[in-house]
Amino acid sequence: MSIRFDNRVAIVTGAGNGLGRAHALLLASRGAKVVVNDPGGAVDGRPINTGGGDHAAADRVVAEIKAAGGQAVPNYDSVADPKSAANIVKTAVDSFGTVDIVVNNAGVLRDKTFHNMTAEDFDFVVKVHFLGTAYVTHAAWPILRAKAYGRVVVTSSNSGIYGTFGQANYGGAKLAVVGFMNALRLEGQKYNIFINALAPVAATRMTESLMTPEVLDKLRPEYVSPMVAYLCSEQCQRTGDIWSAGAGTFARIEYREAEGVRIAGRAPTIEDVAANIEKIADVSASRVFRTSSEEVQAVVSG
Ligand code: NAI
Repeated sequence: MSIRFDNRVAIVTGAGNGLGRAHALLLASRGAKVVVNDPGGAVDGRPINTGGGDHAAADRVVAEIKAAGGQAVPNYDSVADPKSAANIVKTAVDSFGTVDIVVNNAGVLRDKTFHNMTAEDFDFVVKVHFLGTAYVTHAAWPILRAKAYGRVVVTSSNSGIYGTFGQANYGGAKLAVVGFMNALRLEGQKYNIFINALAPVAATRMTESLMTPEVLDKLRPEYVSPMVAYLCSEQCQRTGDIWSAGAGTFARIEYREAEGVRIAGRAPTIEDVAANIEKIADVSASRVFRTSSEEVQAVVSG
């Protein structure tokens, strides 16, 4: 049975290049009406003159979708401001009547070691990745809630989950979207709004300078998009998970918590921690929690 998105309206942010373009093309090829959002700009979010102006990125992808017989409209607003983010959702409603799917993909890089990173480099990256995800999803949320249907994807990164040198701003923002997802999983579930996080690996302008041509060839963005499209489908009943996807490899990522050590019957001391640190750190026997209250309960009961 093929998975289709007929009569579904999808917003893909940052869809003018790389992964977003591949997600938009795949969703449209399976019948989705797609808002191709992209204000254009360079990898660091600064303007570039691309000949067609900054609208060229979104326009190109809309033209590709239409040439393949699909339906799409461009939108050039930034996700990084509440008003312009709301306008992305308005474009979906004005053009196609509603929104069913939100793929938060827009991203920028401002890499620097922490001691060289300016507050502006921090603010900008957090604004696009984290606040941009929150603003666009927030504008779509009342519509998804009212119709009791929604599929939302946030784009995290192995940089936030595992760490990358020089990406304190980016890594922080990329894990912020996971915390955001964890709350919306609980709030959206009874409205049939499912939200998942993607941790992609792909050859795009963001990563092309970091890898050899042979490796880049294995990392085509379109090898990631089936995961995203599945998470956006009616068939997907999973919510609140983190999914790694790249080079044709797909895998769920999960946190675990060590069984740890309980000091009972008296106040624990610093020396208790020091004496037990290896056991506290040992995750060979570990537990997985699905909500913060589950974890608190386990901590309290030992
Ligand atoms: P890309 O640079 O090719 O695409 C990002 C797109 O976002 C660009 O078209 C850009 O114009 C757009 N964008 C930037 N600021 C925006 C804003 N304020 N509003 C709307 N759109 C905006 O990069 P790539 O690799 O396709 O990245 C897509 C997403 O995947 C990003 O969130 C990135 O952080 C994430 N990611 C990518 C990885 C990779 O291996 N390529 C690894 C982990 C995460």
